[in-house]
Amino acid sequence: MANQITGEIKAVDRYGVMGYPISHSRSPIIHRLFALQTGQDIQYELLQVSPEKLETAVRQFQRTGGRGLNITVPHKAEVTRLVDQLSERAATAGAVNTLAFKGGEVMGDNTDGIGLLRDLAVNLGVSIEKANILILGAGGATRGIIGPLLEMQPTRIQIANRTLGKAKALADHFSRSGPVSACRFNEVATGKTYDLIINATSAGLRGETPPYPQAAISENTFCYDLSYGIQPTPFSVWAREAGARKSVMGWGMLVEQAAESFKIWRGVRPDTAPVLKQMIIAA
Ligand code: ATR
Repeated sequence: MANQITGEIKAVDRYGVMGYPISHSRSPIIHRLFALQTGQDIQYELLQVSPEKLETAVRQFQRTGGRGLNITVPHKAEVTRLVDQLSERAATAGAVNTLAFKGGEVMGDNTDGIGLLRDLAVNLGVSIEKANILILGAGGATRGIIGPLLEMQPTRIQIANRTLGKAKALADHFSRSGPVSACRFNEVATGKTYDLIINATSAGLRGETPPYPQAAISENTFCYDLSYGIQPTPFSVWAREAGARKSVMGWGMLVEQAAESFKIWRGVRPDTAPVLKQMIIAA
């Protein structure tokens, strides 16, 4: 950017989000709003990168002066290979959603879990401590949130999945950190058992509603879909119809995880409330 008085050209710090596909990503809008709010001069790009080009694209972004990247589906696990320093929470999650390039090194972090916790605890007033939690799905999204949820000391986390083996593998992996168990959808406890049900399956992305355990929902249950959309997601509709206390999509987690990435890069945490409001209105 040219300074009007001195004529000096100042390079704007470059950031971006890499995924495949990526055109639907709201990250550029969110980071532009954060930059405006905090008076930071940054550029944020949308980068469609196929899996076989991931390494080349990350290295090139770094080589050409890029300062940081968000990494999204399907690259979050694969990109851990390219990182020089992995944060503890990214190592636990086995996935990275934020890269920072500093002094020739690639730092990898994961802000998804903290983003979810902030949305639940701060924005929505949902208490995790002593909660009975049911997570539907046992893929990368589940792996990313279990560690941070366990740190808040819930009574129990039950992982229910179509493929039992994947849920069991996750439960085994995290059982050192807290009470986690695994089951199939049709083995989920019924009645007033769950305070919080989180949908971490990718079924809704294809418009599918698997045979989720409807009887697990009571009028006390708070339902949260990690997915979000312009229209209510299939899970959020299903949960509302099943009588959940509240059924919420993951817009807040999206904005909160972005704010944590922005803080890693720029050292300031933006105020998420006005940005979340704008995102929901714009949706
Ligand atoms: P992500 O990284 O987004 O979590 P993933 O690793 O592919 O994606 O995991 C997707 C999750 O959604 C899995 O738990 C998957 O169930 P399986 O382990 O049985 O494959 C779940 N999922 C996707 N589509 C589903 C569907 N139609 N019915 C039930 N579960 C589904």
